[in-house]
Amino acid sequence: MNKSIDYLVQPGGKLTGRIRVPGDKSISHRAVMLGSLAEGETRVTGLLEGEDVLSTLGAFRAMGVRAEGPDKGKLVIHGAGLHGLKAPRNPLDMGNSGTAMRLMAGILAGQAFDSELIGDESLSKRPMKRVADPLGRMGAVIQTVEGGRPPLRIKGGQKPCGIEYQMPVASAQVKSSLLLAGLYADGETTVTEPAPTRDHTERMLRGFGYAVKTDGARISLRGGGRLKACNIDVPADISSATFFLVGASIAPGSDLVLEHVGINPTRIGVLNILKLMGANLELLNTREVGGEPVADIRVRAAKLRGIRIPEDQAPLAIDEFPALFIAAACASGETILTGAHELRVKESDRIAVMAQGLKQVGIDARETPDGIIIQGGRLQGGEIDSHGDHRIAMSFAVAGLCATGPVTVRDCKNVDTSFPGFVGLAAQAGLSIRVVQ
Ligand code: S3P
Repeated sequence: MNKSIDYLVQPGGKLTGRIRVPGDKSISHRAVMLGSLAEGETRVTGLLEGEDVLSTLGAFRAMGVRAEGPDKGKLVIHGAGLHGLKAPRNPLDMGNSGTAMRLMAGILAGQAFDSELIGDESLSKRPMKRVADPLGRMGAVIQTVEGGRPPLRIKGGQKPCGIEYQMPVASAQVKSSLLLAGLYADGETTVTEPAPTRDHTERMLRGFGYAVKTDGARISLRGGGRLKACNIDVPADISSATFFLVGASIAPGSDLVLEHVGINPTRIGVLNILKLMGANLELLNTREVGGEPVADIRVRAAKLRGIRIPEDQAPLAIDEFPALFIAAACASGETILTGAHELRVKESDRIAVMAQGLKQVGIDARETPDGIIIQGGRLQGGEIDSHGDHRIAMSFAVAGLCATGPVTVRDCKNVDTSFPGFVGLAAQAGLSIRVVQ
């Protein structure tokens, strides 16, 4: 059982040196999933050993998949093949992870056995109809509890059939869930997205030798194929790098290099937005690793200015907004975000929780239904409740760099879901942070 922990951050300091943040969460989940469903041995390096990915791995182990590791980011998966999973004895616990639950729902919809997906308190409040409904149209039988929430009870033995689905929300999780169910479906499954979302599933399926067609916003695959094991080198997670991109931008004198960061075009909203705000970012040594673009990112302190964030960047920076709001709080002038209603259904309501936290440290932040308006100002010290949301906790931790007094962040244990070792790495780079039990 995890004990509750708080962070105590002393104001000031700067971020310097070279660091590598842990592996990409989205890619790590998919590596475990596709490796488990492939034929042969998949060797993964750079895997994120965060609790979310461990939930996914635990689910496959509970369905009979053998894997060695993870150890220092290395995992060897002996794939069971698309039809080799066994009925789990107990409900599969997805912990805090929406990605795990929604993508697993797609995979389980194609199995011969019944299954149940459960989650923690936060996940149990998150909307699942967005996958249960279209999977139902494919022929899956999925029961949710009232309001379309978890647990999900999935009936086995229902052969899915391919559908054409126009997604109402720009969600990579919905897209991926349907494509994974599509592996088991008769005929073709086509998903059309209203705006581009992360395309790691499509890229990795191709890496495993599965044909996926992308035609503008339409992504299709045909069921009945096979996945062939391959090796995957997971880049560092740009979402985890973001806390340092923001921290180094707002802390005078900072000069930091983040190594081996994934810069997939569907994930770089944070770079685009920070550049518009006047950040000093340099991409070095850009290369391609296992089908994903990667670079080292040099970031130096800069005077940031408030902006109106272009709406088309919202899906490309959806996980990075808590940290970007800290950048906005330290910028001159006003920052306006619209078109980001999805932030309200993440691990917490990130619009409400960030607005509340920013006010707590003396910043004028006003919620709107689908965004926020932040007036840049002088961040004071104070006490913040992260509401158990890992990204809120880390955002306010780096806010300490430009605060006038100490910042205490409550309820930070879930940082381990996406960024094990955050405190040590942040301290190494120059943040004055310590954990209080
Ligand atoms: C993810 C997709 C995004 C993102 C989440 C990871 C993924 O969610 O917020 O952290 O790995 O597919 P949505 O699909 O709900 O936008």
